[in-house]
Amino acid sequence: MYRKDNKTEHYTVKANREGYPARSVYKLKDIDEKYRFFKKGDRVLDLGAAPGSWMQYIATKVGEKGFVQGVDIKDVEIEMKPNMRFLKKDMRELTSTHFTRGKYDAVVSDAAPFTSGVPSLDAGRSFELTSKAFEIACSILKPKGSFLTKLFDGEYTGDFHREIQKSFSSVKRYRPRAITKQSREIYIIARNFTPKT
Ligand SMILES: C[S@@+](CC[C@H](N)C(=O)[O-])C[C@H]1O[C@@H](n2cnc3c(N)ncnc32)[C@H](O)[C@@H]1O
Repeated sequence: MYRKDNKTEHYTVKANREGYPARSVYKLKDIDEKYRFFKKGDRVLDLGAAPGSWMQYIATKVGEKGFVQGVDIKDVEIEMKPNMRFLKKDMRELTSTHFTRGKYDAVVSDAAPFTSGVPSLDAGRSFELTSKAFEIACSILKPKGSFLTKLFDGEYTGDFHREIQKSFSSVKRYRPRAITKQSREIYIIARNFTPKT
């Protein structure tokens, strides 16, 4: 019989108990506790936001003077608060016309493609979303802004890391504790954005 591994089960139960729709919130919490990623008043874009646990966490961190703008192809399953906005859209179709209300302090992306089961195809689709998130971050971040993205560790990791280093003065890779052993997921944490002139 199929049984979730202990880590997945532990974080799923914890998420249910603490009122989050997804256990992925504990990856973000781990990153935020280590890197102090969000601050009060921040304007944050959350790509691949459904079902909404990152949005829920970010909204409490940025407070009522900040806000979080989620984007996903699917609907979120959370109660929307005044400092949350949501756009149901394929992030690959986003352009600067969708962001007319000023620059952002942080862009985060937990977007993951619908998997086909073919590892090379899935890695390529995932990298397409990660690259798009980076492109959006470069066009809407304030100077000194931050970028956080999920990445499937593989052939693209080294080149992508080097590419991001051209735009951010600090770029780190981190595997939050909530990621299962068999997963190839890592997160890239990039700080201090320097717009190219
Ligand atoms: C792991 S889930 C994100 C979980 C979310 N961080 C949370 O805590 O609730 C990945 C999300 O990426 C979204 N996604 C995949 N491809 C997308 C695309 N092209 N545009 C927007 N969202 C996409 C999926 O619909 C899915 O909701």
